[in-house]
Amino acid sequence: MAEKNIFPISQILRKMVTRKNPDDALAGAAKGGLEKTLGVWDLIILGVGAIIGSGIFAVVGIAAAGSADGSSPGAGPALIVSMVIAAIACVFSALCYSEFATMIPVAGGAYTYTFATLGEFSAWIIGWILMLEYAIGFIAVACAWTNHFMQFIKGFSAILPAWFVNPPVWLVNDFRTASNIDPSAIPHIAGIPFCINLPAIIMIAITTAILVKGTKDSAKMAGIMVAVKLGVITLFVLAGAFYVRPENWTPFAPNGFEGVFMGAFIIFFAYIGFDALATAAEECKNPQKDLPVGILGSLLVTTVVYVLVALVLTGMQPTSGVAIPEGLFKAPMAFAMTAVNQNWIAGLISVGSLAGLTSVLLVMHMAATRVLFAMSRDNFLPRVFQKIHPKFNTPHILTITVGVVGILGTLILDLNVAASLCNFGTFTSFIIVCVAILILRKVDPDRPRPFKVPFCPWFPLLGILCCGGLMVFSMVISKGEAAVLSTELFVVWVIMGALIYASYGYRKNRQMEKLAENEEIAGKNEIEAGIK
Ligand code: ALA
Repeated sequence: MAEKNIFPISQILRKMVTRKNPDDALAGAAKGGLEKTLGVWDLIILGVGAIIGSGIFAVVGIAAAGSADGSSPGAGPALIVSMVIAAIACVFSALCYSEFATMIPVAGGAYTYTFATLGEFSAWIIGWILMLEYAIGFIAVACAWTNHFMQFIKGFSAILPAWFVNPPVWLVNDFRTASNIDPSAIPHIAGIPFCINLPAIIMIAITTAILVKGTKDSAKMAGIMVAVKLGVITLFVLAGAFYVRPENWTPFAPNGFEGVFMGAFIIFFAYIGFDALATAAEECKNPQKDLPVGILGSLLVTTVVYVLVALVLTGMQPTSGVAIPEGLFKAPMAFAMTAVNQNWIAGLISVGSLAGLTSVLLVMHMAATRVLFAMSRDNFLPRVFQKIHPKFNTPHILTITVGVVGILGTLILDLNVAASLCNFGTFTSFIIVCVAILILRKVDPDRPRPFKVPFCPWFPLLGILCCGGLMVFSMVISKGEAAVLSTELFVVWVIMGALIYASYGYRKNRQMEKLAENEEIAGKNEIEAGIK
């Protein structure tokens, strides 16, 4: 009796850490699941499609030479070491993702794994943080897409109309970027500055339409784009090798460890994407066998490609001791080829970059919808998001919603802030997945594990250490405005997530529990009435 009067804080806390039995997640997926269309090659293509993008086509210049405003030091030719460090940080998490994805092959990735290990509240927060990785990262890539597109059409200035090649800044930039270029050129509507990033918006609309049409089609599209981007990267490495000047490789690490680790943090963005495969686990034909090959295979292919690009790029272009040209920051590979008068190769590289960025857009958009789909199945979001298109078999309402959010995001976020936020979100989700592996090994040791992380607990612990270390290091070292803003936005995002959980997610879950209880009682009553 007395217990009823106590403020139910202990009950609330208990509910917040209530774990979802992985068997329930599997049963939920079996009931209303997504169509199983993806094989091992589809997975590797989707993986490489998700990983190789603006990181290697754009961000690599900053990682090598440091940021233009001097707020972060560059790695110099030691960029290859930064790349290997970033790849090692990813590999521990990739192994943990593989163990989970084969054990609980349902949509949702890190969100689903957290629900099975750390409970309801942590699951909601990690789902919310995953939106930083996928939905905000997707905005960063859309901004990079515009930059590359504008660079690409400049090559055709002689044949294209001037208004198309040099449009007003407010039509191809977000407000922050446009203000840096020419604040006086920004129009105002009712006193509010008006900027729209039109190419990014059109691209998001196109990827939304492709994704609504079907996952298999998206994998096919990604396949074509992966072939194009791997083709131009191979061309860069083979042709560039002839222009390497070994003297550019010295000094090897002009900014010492600081430059190498900062380079690793920045280039980490280039590896993001392999985890997106885990979110599509429910759509795999044979997840137990194919997912680890897909996740680890795409990471391996990418690492080899990145190290080769870094070797050739830093051999072709000085990255320290001289004034760094702007082209090295915006489109480094194309710039390096232009610098040695190989303009046609530079043009092909620009086409490859656009293809690469488009495939990253597709997979990140898809991953964001799959996480939200799993969250709506768990009553954290309205049920309407669970609707599957009757003809295309895809979560069309969610796909369109993410597309609209992406379009709104391009109006307010710029590439740097969105990419840093994406890095923070990804580091956090990787750390949580490593922690979750350790917990599930303890609380559910007998669950069948078709793939096991070797050297457990050491590998997951190393994953936590590498990701946590790089994240804290970047927070301490970066002094630029974009870095400070993204750190603040990250904190605001997490607080916002906690408030939404308190005002919607927690309440909705309790309502659903009550409903399920009532249904159970009604069912029992009917059976009893039948017996009488
Ligand atoms: N890895 C992805 C890219 O580089 C996010 O664009």
